[in-house]
Amino acid sequence: MTIPVIIDTDTAQDDCVTIIAGMMDPVAEVRAITMVAGNVGFDQQVRNAHLTLNALGMLGEVPIFLGCRRPVLVPWVSAENVHGDGSGGLRIDEQGLRTEDEHGVDALLRLTAEAPGEISIVAIGPLTNLAVAAIKDPTFPARVKRLVIMGGSNNGRGNITPAGEFNFYVDPHAARIVFEAGFDITLVPWAPLTLNDAVFKRDQLAEIASLGTPLSEFFGHVCASTLAFDESVGIPGTTHPDSLSLTVLLHPELVTRSARQHVAIECDSELTRGYSAISWGVHGLEPNAEVIEAVDGEAFYAYLKGILATRTEPNRPYLARG
Ligand code: RIB
Ligand code: CA
Repeated sequence: MTIPVIIDTDTAQDDCVTIIAGMMDPVAEVRAITMVAGNVGFDQQVRNAHLTLNALGMLGEVPIFLGCRRPVLVPWVSAENVHGDGSGGLRIDEQGLRTEDEHGVDALLRLTAEAPGEISIVAIGPLTNLAVAAIKDPTFPARVKRLVIMGGSNNGRGNITPAGEFNFYVDPHAARIVFEAGFDITLVPWAPLTLNDAVFKRDQLAEIASLGTPLSEFFGHVCASTLAFDESVGIPGTTHPDSLSLTVLLHPELVTRSARQHVAIECDSELTRGYSAISWGVHGLEPNAEVIEAVDGEAFYAYLKGILATRTEPNRPYLARG
């Protein structure tokens, strides 16, 4: 039994790893990739998605729809200081590469209307596309089987600010709309979960590099900038919250602790913009999300390493660096 999924992404670094896992895991049936403004420039994110499909040897095998190029209210904020261009400077001949004409928001609405209750969405960037879709069609949340969101922190530190995790910080208003729209939400937070169970340390990265496959080489390229940034801020390796979000959907047996909680998003304070206030069940607030609190980190690493060990035939060669 496969799991139909749409990946809504601001494609850079671990977003690329998520697309790899979705396209390689036989449990997953990736119906679409929808692009949203987030990590790096929008057009660079589209390039990163094509580079990822190229490394898989799957260029053109999944439709890419272009969604919102900016947050619903506040100006876009970049994470290029963290991810560089998101793909380690890789380039391929882009002749003939295409994306769909239909807007990403309309694709989310159409695909879920054609298969109500069947498709899950893994949202691993700012939630702009999801929020605009829910505003345009209030019946949208009810026909999404499950919405797995990477974002926020569970009474823990942010990353772009002390309180704000990047996805919720970039578009806090979209995040508030989504958490109030009636989706069946599973939340994969930055802290403490990602920092505890989804950081690949140098020895693990060396193991992946030693695999010597096109996917392991691509993984090294896309993670290089983020590794340098992470280590500069005291995180001992590369962070993988996006690929963990897809893994939680495909392999729930890896989840070792979770709880239904109420999640609310701060939009008005610059100091705490994007903060996810997650109640621990003593404030009389109706839960609106299943919050993942711990996973089997070793099993998660082994799962991704197994995927990266699979040999693929990239569609196109990489161009020499200018
Ligand atoms: O805070 C981590 C999140 O922000 C990840 O999804 C990363 O790709 C960036 O989008
Ligand atoms: Ca992301």
